[in-house]
Amino acid sequence: MATESSKRGIWNTRIGFIFAAAGSAVGLGNIWRFPYVAGEGGGGAFLIIYLICIAFICVPYLFAELSLGRHHQRNPVGAIKAITGPSGWLAVGGLCIVAGLMILSYYSVVAGWAIGYVAKDVIAPNTPFEEFIASPGLVITLLAIFMGLTLYIVAGGVQQGIERWAKILMPLLFVLMLFVILRSVTLEGASEGIAFFLKPDFSEVGFETIMVALGQAFFSLSLGMGAMITYGSYLPKRENILSSGGYVAVFDTSIAILAGFMIFPAIFALGFSPDEGPALVFVILPEVFAQMYLGGLIGVIFFLLLSVGALTSSISLLEVVVSYFIDEKKWSRKKSVYTIGIIAFILAIPTALSQGAVGFLSDMSYIFGDDGLFGQNDFLGVLDFFFGSLFLAFGAFFISIFVGWVWGAHYAAEEIQQGSTFSGNLMKFWIFMLRYICPIFIIVVIIGMFLDII
Ligand code: PHE
Repeated sequence: MATESSKRGIWNTRIGFIFAAAGSAVGLGNIWRFPYVAGEGGGGAFLIIYLICIAFICVPYLFAELSLGRHHQRNPVGAIKAITGPSGWLAVGGLCIVAGLMILSYYSVVAGWAIGYVAKDVIAPNTPFEEFIASPGLVITLLAIFMGLTLYIVAGGVQQGIERWAKILMPLLFVLMLFVILRSVTLEGASEGIAFFLKPDFSEVGFETIMVALGQAFFSLSLGMGAMITYGSYLPKRENILSSGGYVAVFDTSIAILAGFMIFPAIFALGFSPDEGPALVFVILPEVFAQMYLGGLIGVIFFLLLSVGALTSSISLLEVVVSYFIDEKKWSRKKSVYTIGIIAFILAIPTALSQGAVGFLSDMSYIFGDDGLFGQNDFLGVLDFFFGSLFLAFGAFFISIFVGWVWGAHYAAEEIQQGSTFSGNLMKFWIFMLRYICPIFIIVVIIGMFLDII
């Protein structure tokens, strides 16, 4: 076992794993996606539902993914195969690989915008956001740069690549956000935004809001598509899955909440509306920076750190797919990285062109009608809803059933016990959550949402 794991790569230090997993979790999901879905979902009410989903569904489920990965030290497909042999359950692992590839494709497009905003004053000064993202040459170049960086790091392997970067840059992002919040909440009129974010109004909440909150919780913690199975597979047996996983969840959730405090006060103070959709942070934050001392510089650093946050997430998306080809198809790391990277890049092109550059990708009402698919009518929005919310919820549904019932929650609990104090009532509670609450809650929300729209 030891030689096998050292061949596959293993986290160097405990703190290295925590930062790498937190790096996977913290990214565009927290800073770009959370504020806009929370804004569309009604602010405070959304926040409460989101926090409930994190605490009662995602955290117990996170331990299931980590233990499944660490048990046989395999990618999602391999981990399932090691337990059931050839079986229909392998399709669930296959879904993870597909979701990884698809999320990577559109994620890299948005990450490209973030990179573009680092140098915006140089490459496209005074260009409004809508025009910026509708310029085909620009967005595809930025996409290529971001994808290239992702490939470069993943090709470097687990310790040298992923771990080393995440450790330095994540704490920096945290500190910078505190500065931006300070400015945001002291803008005149900010208190209305704080109230919007903290005072819940449940009158508009339906299954769709709960679905989006649940989907966002999975997306933000990188769950439902095997990223944490894969990262768990590099975790040594002596490590404490409970506390490491707990830190990751707390860190990720804090960054999302901080992003809310960064954005909502500014939205109200500057007279914008919280339901601007995916453009939200790219439009609002530059306005906040403009009101800050040394704002130009702060903007550059902020978008740089956001790009890094995106990078530590995209490497985990790619790593899921790559680890599958390394373990199961015996490809070399380099061959896997570059083959998959090129495929992901090609898949990303329609998304890159879906923000105004190409008409039939930017407005797909000819398929989804005027209301769109859950309000989304451009290719990016459609992919993000389909893979970034729905697929992850389905993935988590099947994986929680797999770990809870097919592999057996007691085996998973034994795996967790290696390295943690996990017994008695706590363990019983976890098993109950994993076997009953997670799958039932997820499926009720999905069905409720579909019934709501019929
Ligand atoms: N959690 C990442 C973010 O918040 C995105 C992600 C989703 C990464 C799924 C891996 C798997 O940006």
